[in-house]
Amino acid sequence: MENETQIKEVEKKIAALEAVKFVQAGSIVGLGTGSSAYHAIQEISNLVKSGLEIQAVATSAHTAMLAGNLGIPLLNFDEVNSIDVTIDGADEFTADLKLIKGGGGALFREKVVAAMTKQEIIITDSSKLVDRLGAFTVPIEVIPLAVNHVMKEIKLLGGSPVLRKKNGHLFITDNNNYVIDADFGLIDEPENLSSALNNIDGLLAHGIFLNLAAKVIMGKGDQVIYF
Ligand code: 5RP
Repeated sequence: MENETQIKEVEKKIAALEAVKFVQAGSIVGLGTGSSAYHAIQEISNLVKSGLEIQAVATSAHTAMLAGNLGIPLLNFDEVNSIDVTIDGADEFTADLKLIKGGGGALFREKVVAAMTKQEIIITDSSKLVDRLGAFTVPIEVIPLAVNHVMKEIKLLGGSPVLRKKNGHLFITDNNNYVIDADFGLIDEPENLSSALNNIDGLLAHGIFLNLAAKVIMGKGDQVIYF
């Protein structure tokens, strides 16, 4: 187990180092959230310390704190119209670049940043590649007052919703909302499910990311594989 975790960590890191090669001087860079993005943020910080001039936007309060502590210049969302390149992780991806994200609960900001980004690069270890999305439950950010309504609508779509908890308490996002993890089984038509979820009032964002990733860079052993 320990060994498996170490292998995944190496795969994440080599994918991150490869992705950072796409960061160019003068660009605005989106910084993802999670353990894969962490490696990219570390490497970007090294480059900034060596003189690379970039500005960054963070996908979570946690990432903003990390990047700030590492000396990466940060912009607020309202200072940015477009992002050149974003490097973020994923919980699952298919070879045709469909993703599930939000395991870390940052899905709303991650989706907004991805939508604003010219080149969204996803970095993963080799365990994240799947034939069909859905073994990982779909994270859904919900406005608290709408939680019962959204849970009911998810059930009508055939899902099993569970309100996310952390350390025995309800998980609260950076936007002061809740996260529902919804099990839909393996998803035949991610486009249909994504549209149906988007139509639920009170649902802020869901973790099915379609048509947002430009490429996935996956670490496998000591190699990187592009999708
Ligand atoms: C956070 C995310 C992460 O990108 C996703 O959970 C993958 O995390 P990790 O790189 O730690 O495996 O979507 O909301």
